[in-house]
Amino acid sequence: MNHFDYKNGVLYAEDVALDGLAREIGTPFYCYSTATLTRHYNVFAAALPKSALVAFSVKANGNLGVLKTLAELGAGADVVSGGELKKALAAGIPGNRIVFSGVGKTKEEMSLALKAGIYQFNVEGEPELEALDEVARALHMRAPVTIRVNPDVDAKTHAKITTGTAETKFGIPWTKARDVYAHAARLRGIEIVGVDVHIGSQITELAPFEAAFRRVVELIAALRADGHKIARADLGGGLGVPYKLDNTPPPAPDAYGALIAKVTEGLDVQLVLEPGRLIAANAGILVSKVIYVKPGLEKTFLVLDAGMNDLVRPAMYDAHHDILPVKEPRPITANRRYDVVGPVCETADLFARDRDLPEAAADDLMALMTAGAYGAVMSSSYNARALVPEVLVHGAKWCVVRPRVTQEALIALDRIPDWFDDGSRS
Ligand code: LLP
Repeated sequence: MNHFDYKNGVLYAEDVALDGLAREIGTPFYCYSTATLTRHYNVFAAALPKSALVAFSVKANGNLGVLKTLAELGAGADVVSGGELKKALAAGIPGNRIVFSGVGKTKEEMSLALKAGIYQFNVEGEPELEALDEVARALHMRAPVTIRVNPDVDAKTHAKITTGTAETKFGIPWTKARDVYAHAARLRGIEIVGVDVHIGSQITELAPFEAAFRRVVELIAALRADGHKIARADLGGGLGVPYKLDNTPPPAPDAYGALIAKVTEGLDVQLVLEPGRLIAANAGILVSKVIYVKPGLEKTFLVLDAGMNDLVRPAMYDAHHDILPVKEPRPITANRRYDVVGPVCETADLFARDRDLPEAAADDLMALMTAGAYGAVMSSSYNARALVPEVLVHGAKWCVVRPRVTQEALIALDRIPDWFDDGSRS
């Protein structure tokens, strides 16, 4: 479900025509819909008990405009760095609605989070537990902790976004959990509050979630029998979204919520969820312009002005993104088969191979759909390309929530060492 539709022959974001927006701010640009973000958040939250904390996974989309929109709806945040923590706080998400995940938290980040009154640390290993204990004691505090357990469940998603099998770096093996909790209970700076799990991303079946959550429930019983106070279960994120308009959609939030209700029935825990993609992916698109239609020997290439540096998902995970022309194709328009590529000097800079699209010409605008999660946040300035702007639409209103980072601004970040005395240093 999204709010990008054709009206009067043009693709709109809510009530804003994308061709007009492209004229105003240039291409490429990311465009997000407030209505879609709102709908996704509300549908997800409504599928869970009222007491659950829905902590939006900031890594999916960390734009302050997006975070503020979600904060106003009551969202918490799942952060994985000091930078994300600062962004969540800057967007008005209070510390006591923020959870801190990630395998490499530094002591500086731990201290920042403790001072912000963080809701919980999702601790991923014993060395981290000891570091956190030390930091908390130095601040005369106790750090609220869940331990992330690795349930050794295959999420049946892309290998690069699988996190819950035994060979990944995430969490502690669930078979070692009781020992690690016993260790944690001996540390004065640590307050055990619950258990955490996250098995991967873009998961399109409920069975892997069910297997993982059942392990967590079993573990909670064992930990309680060992005398630990387990008041929370953080079940992570990972619910997939439809990337193709025409395929069977992944399970809806209410089915996911019903599964959680069934598995955790009578458990008496507060639930924490960390959805990222589900909230943001279909709330964003990347609008790009065709630079050339380039005939090859066997293929025709649509060369866009957006590249893998702007949206890396196809190059990195072979991800599919639907591509829609901003100008609505007329029913009689013939389809052509294209390889849709970017201008970056890498063969992997390919958005779509052998994609049937309405016949296109130079200067046509194209929308890469479902780009609101893991899009702008993963962009880079490879090939000295400017970082593209982000626009948030709200009804007929729009705002550039992140301006283009120009080539000049990027170049100005570099320094020429002072041992060159050619007058070119600043
Ligand atoms: N919680 C933890 C601990 C995570 O590691 C992640 C995602 C999430 C929550 C949010 O998962 P979601 O609900 O968005 O699936 N860049 C990849 C996805 C990487 C996901 C990393 N962790 C992509 O573009 O597909």
